[in-house]
Amino acid sequence: MALFNPKVFLTLTEGKLEGTEIKQSYKYLNALAGVFKNETARAEMDQDALIYEVQAYMPVEEGKSGGLFFGNSTIYPGKVDQEYFMTRGHFHSNFDTAEYYWGVKGEGYLILMDENRKIWAEKMTPGSVHYIPGKVAHRVANTGSEPLVFNACWPSDAGHDYESIAEHGFSARLLEVDGEPKLVEE
Ligand code: F6R
Ligand code: ZN
Repeated sequence: MALFNPKVFLTLTEGKLEGTEIKQSYKYLNALAGVFKNETARAEMDQDALIYEVQAYMPVEEGKSGGLFFGNSTIYPGKVDQEYFMTRGHFHSNFDTAEYYWGVKGEGYLILMDENRKIWAEKMTPGSVHYIPGKVAHRVANTGSEPLVFNACWPSDAGHDYESIAEHGFSARLLEVDGEPKLVEE
């Protein structure tokens, strides 16, 4: 019987994935037009600033049911005006599919919004575990001064619906108010 070495390694203290099959993507400020509340402020900032990066291990074809994907996201610290750097956020296209996120480094909030636009946020810190139920949109904001790193695991047929967020947004935004993060209704 053959013995194999793992194809993928997770650096436990950094949350980073290593291996030849890892897909890597980078999100720069110029790709986030219209995402932040103050678009004028965003447009005046350095458009080449790296806001977040994502690694994904997708051992089965995307869209195929029954598989699981594994990811790492790193959100760099910073703000557009009062609003913390954050991911675009999405519902899953296969609407009723769940996901796990867990914090590895840094601090921030996981912002969750259900299909009725009810919104809440969970504090993310190293070791915090977050179950994201199906039908719930999710985005993460970095409220700290260091990169916020988290891992994720989601179904291979979940897909990403960015369009409805682009059209309707989240019903609240995480802003710095009097030096503290506050979820402010739109
Ligand atoms: C996968 C998932 C994460 C995000 C990543 C980037 O379902 O939720 O891997 O894709 O944190 O955020 P988005 O995709 O919203 O730009
Ligand atoms: Zn997701």
